[in-house]
Order: sequence, then structure tokens, then C-alpha cells
Amino acid sequence: MKRKLLAMVMIATIVPGLVACSKVDAAKDTAKKPGATQINQTSENTDGKTAASVDGKTSASVVPDELVESYKPKGFIEGDKKKALFVVADPRKYSVNYDLANTAMKYFEDNGVEVELRDLYDMKFNPVVSPEEFYYAKDGTGEASAEIKKEQEFVSKSDYIIFVYPNWHDTPTAIVKGYMERVFAKQFAYRDTDAGLEGLLKNKSIYTIMNAGFLGGGRGYIGDGVGIDDKAWDEYMNAFKVLDDDTAGFWGLENKGRFVNDRTPKNNSENYKDELTKLRQDLINELNRVYFK
Ligand SMILES: Cc1cc2nc3c(=O)[nH]c(=O)nc-3n(C[C@H](O)[C@H](O)[C@H](O)COP(=O)(O)O)c2cc1C
Repeated sequence: MKRKLLAMVMIATIVPGLVACSKVDAAKDTAKKPGATQINQTSENTDGKTAASVDGKTSASVVPDELVESYKPKGFIEGDKKKALFVVADPRKYSVNYDLANTAMKYFEDNGVEVELRDLYDMKFNPVVSPEEFYYAKDGTGEASAEIKKEQEFVSKSDYIIFVYPNWHDTPTAIVKGYMERVFAKQFAYRDTDAGLEGLLKNKSIYTIMNAGFLGGGRGYIGDGVGIDDKAWDEYMNAFKVLDDDTAGFWGLENKGRFVNDRTPKNNSENYKDELTKLRQDLINELNRVYFK
């Protein structure tokens, strides 16, 4: 009798555990890239006001495998060429946001600029300023950790710093925000002087490439609304400019602006390839204007 009772108790504890495990695995699976057949499904579930990539499966952009153009830059090779540091913070390599990173990195290298990629998700970069590290970040007291020193060396070598991330709640993805907090510490990026704060990263610049869900309808920067809600678009772009200018001023470098896209091709668009090609070209035109003219 006792044995029977024990067996029942064991079954009662183990079975729900197994069910819970399989639920976790299923949840993990849903984070994988949706399959091509899923992506190309048409759906009534589209929001005519926004360019969100709705296909009945995900509202995120998913570039089909045959159109993904992964690009691995050669890194800084210590020549006397200009150097662009790409800080990329996107969990998905097949997003339209990552496509913009690939397009931009290739365009810089094609134009004779050395490109170093710091893919924060691949690096599993820890974005949290720990209590132990707080006074280093705030005052520059003590030594930077080996991890942070390495990133600071990349920053020191670079002429152009380019952040690439999707818009998450109107701000950078948390992992890149943490990169800014931990790497651009006081005494490295700025210091106190009798005349106030002095930015230390002179003769460098920042630029941001950001894909977005909906910011009024636009592609580019201030003035590049597409006639849906240009007032809202310009308000967003101007707000980003205020923050970017302030950050740039703090660090002593130039803010070269942003390329923001909220006209992402819908995953189920019949003209997907053309629309993606146009988006890539729009980014290239903008980079050409900002960096190569
Ligand atoms: C957590 C989260 C928050 C988001 N917040 C915003 C937002 O505030 N504004 C916006 O325009 N898009 C927002 N989005 C949409 C993303 O910017 C959009 O899905 C993304 O840029 C699409 O490009 P991607 O799929 O290429 O990353 C958010 C997405 C996520 C996952």
C-alpha cells in the first residue's frame, strides 16, 4: 500500500515537470526563424497605417534566406585608412535591421574604410554596470576590466562609430545602452576641467542606423517623412537629434545623425525583393552623402 502511494506521489511530481519542460522547449522553438512558407503567407492581419511587417505569424521583419546578404568585415588591420567601428545590437541576423548593418559595413569597406564589427549579442556582452564597476563608470576611478579595455581600444582606433539597433520603446536595445554606459566611462570619454566637462574622443563621430516599427512614416532623418504624419516623424527625429547631440558633446565627438527606417517591406509583399533593394540603396545614398562626399 505504502509503495503504491509512493509511486503515485512520484508520478504526480514528475509528470507536470516533464510537461513544463516541453512547454519551455516549445517556447524556445517559437524564437527560431519562422519558415519561408510561413513568411510568404498572406494575411488580413495588416495594419494599413504602419509599414509593420505583418504576415500572420510575426510582426517582426524576416528577410527570406535567399535575400540575406551576410557580410563579415575584415576588421581593423592597422593601415592608415579611416576606421569605422560598427556596434551592432540586434538578436536576429535575418532582420531588416541586420540587413542594414550588412549593407553599411560592405559599403564602407568597398569605399576603402576599415570596418570592425562588435556584435554585442554574439559577444554576449553584459550590459549591466555592476556595483563594483560603478565608480569606474561614474568617476573613472580604478582600472577598466580587460573586457572594457578591449572595447575602449577599438573606440580609440576608430574614426567613425556607428551604432546599429532596432528601435525598442524609442530607445536603443538595452545591450547597446549598456555598452555606452560601461565603455564610454569618465576619464576615457570625458573628464572634468576647471572650465567644466571636456569630451576626450576628439576627431571622431557617431552615427546611428535604426529600423523602427512606426514613427510617423519616413525613411532617413529630419525632413524625410513620406507624407503620412510628417509632423510626428520630424518630432521623433528632432528628439533623437537632441539626445545624440548631447551624447556627442559629452564624449567630445561629432554627431553625424541617423538613418531611420520605418518603411520596412511587409514580409508578404509581392515586391519584397525590389522594396528591400530600394531600402538598401536609400541607406547607401545617405552614407554616401554623410561620409563620402
Ligand atoms: C521590445 C520592442 C519594443 C519596440 N518598440 C518600438 C517603438 O517604441 N517604436 C517603434 O517604432 N518600433 C518599436 N518596435 C518595433 C521595432 O522597432 C521593429 O520591429 C523593428 O525595428 C523592425 O525591424 P527589425 O524587425 O528589422 O528589427 C519595438 C519592437 C520590440 C521588439
